[in-house]
Formats: sequence, C-alpha cells, structure tokens
Amino acid sequence: MSEQEEADWIPPGADLSRPSAARIYDYLLGGAHNLAADRAVAQRLEAIQPQVATVARRNRAFLRRAVRFMLGQGVRQFLDLGSGIPTVGNVHEVAQEVDPGARVVYVDYEPVAVAHSRMLLKDNPNAAALEADVTDTAAVLTSEPVRTLLDLTEPVGLLAITIGHYLPPDVRPVFAAYRDAVTSGSYLAITHLTNDFAVLSDPRVAETMRSTQDRIFPRTRDEVLALFDGFELVEPGLTTSANWHPDRLAAVVDPEEDGLYAGVGFKP
Ligand SMILES: C[S@@+](CC[C@H](N)C(=O)[O-])C[C@H]1O[C@@H](n2cnc3c(N)ncnc32)[C@H](O)[C@@H]1O
Repeated sequence: MSEQEEADWIPPGADLSRPSAARIYDYLLGGAHNLAADRAVAQRLEAIQPQVATVARRNRAFLRRAVRFMLGQGVRQFLDLGSGIPTVGNVHEVAQEVDPGARVVYVDYEPVAVAHSRMLLKDNPNAAALEADVTDTAAVLTSEPVRTLLDLTEPVGLLAITIGHYLPPDVRPVFAAYRDAVTSGSYLAITHLTNDFAVLSDPRVAETMRSTQDRIFPRTRDEVLALFDGFELVEPGLTTSANWHPDRLAAVVDPEEDGLYAGVGFKP
C-alpha cells in the first residue's frame, strides 16, 4: 500500500498529484500532514536557504501576536484567509483563550488543511473551516460559515498571513473586496514574501515552488503596502515578522534574515 493510501488523514478526492504549500509549510513547522513529494520540495528549499523553517516559525509567531493585538482592541471574530493545516497556536485557540465566545472562520482550498481543521473543530461551535479559493471573494463572504459565525456589522480581524504571495499579480481587488465587506474598526494583518530581503530572494525559491500547486509571487514594499489600501497601519508600520511588536525579550532581527513583510492595519 502506498503512503497516500495508508494515511488516514487524507480526505477522499484530494489532489495529491503535486506538492502543496499547505503540506510543505506543515513539514517545515514539524507537522505530520505531508507526503514524500511535499517533504522533497521542503528539503530543496532548505538546501537553498537553511533559514526557511525559521522564517516559517517567526511567521506563525507573528500570527499569534497579531491575533492577540486585535483581541486587545476588542475584536472578537476572525476570518483567516489561507489558514493552512492546523498546528500549535491556531487562531481559535489564541482567541478563545482570551474569550471563549470568540468566533473564527478558516478558509483554505487545500483539502487536507480543511479536513484536518474540521476534525479539530468538530466540537467547537464558534469556529469552522471553509474549503474555498480566497480569490472567490463572493463565495467566501456569502458562505454558510461566514453568514452564521461572523457578524459583518461588527469589527472583524482579517488575517492574510503568507497568502498574498500565492495570489496572482492582480491581487488588489481581492483585498479590496474583503476590506469593503468589513465594518470600520476592523483590522487586517498581512505577512508577505518579498525579494527585497536576502533570505528568500534566491530565484531558485520561486522556481522550486513552480513544481507545486502554489506558485509564488513575491512583492516589493510598495506592492505590499498597496494591499493595505483603505487601512491605516498601526505602529510600527510595515516591518518584518519578528520585528512587529516583538515579545518583550526578543532581539531585533535583521530584516535581511527575517524575510517576510509584516504589518497590521486598522480600518477607520
Ligand atoms: C504557507 S500556508 C500559510 C498558513 C497560515 N496562514 C500561516 O501563515 O501560518 C499558505 C496557505 O494558503 C493556502 N492557499 C494558497 N492559495 C490559496 C487560495 N487561492 N485560496 C485558498 N487558500 C490558498 C495554501 O493551501 C496554504 O494552506
């Protein structure tokens, strides 16, 4: 029996013919929901850039800090776009630790990510996973989980954490649709791959990802800032993941090593 047939976490109908960003990222974070082909890509990325797993961990830590920040501002509902395979410190865990009534909708188009999220959330009435392409904004925004769990007349925390660079060049209308759907007082958190910093700018990174379901489109600082259109960046503005509201004792990380742009915006 092949590895794919054996693994009971693989939902029927999942396209496993090509590696996926969700499963590569899971491997880099030390998870178990990945296949040999995903691991091979992850290892190729690590051979090009040994810091790639560190970048992924810092990204995850940023996500948790951004969610806590939004909770501190009174946000009690989150739409997590490109949420990935659940790992430690998922959004609903961070949010419901602060307020058990906090609501979360996870969105991903990768069936393993969605199936695993649903399994984890089966006894959680305040969180759900939606299988959808985030660029189909109308489908996401009118979906059953969004309609039943999120109240769009109240502030929402939009999470676009390492998702923008998987979306093709003309991505601004996608971000604009989510912005327009949420009320003032909402927040948007973004992390985004760029070639502006040394750590992930090797062209072999993008080349390697071409063999997967998820090609990447790194963006410049100005292009990432444009995704915040209609939001006011909170302090310290657009920085890199480890340097956004670092934990009290964390050392500043050189952006050249940190690699991902990171910021949080407020919709006035
Ligand atoms: C690197 S993972 C990030 C997971 C999580 N947001 C984080 O930063 O920890 C990127 C995720 O985006 C998902 N993804 C990429 N393009 C997508 C799309 N168009 N619609 C929905 N999900 C997408 C992938 O399946 C993957 O799970």
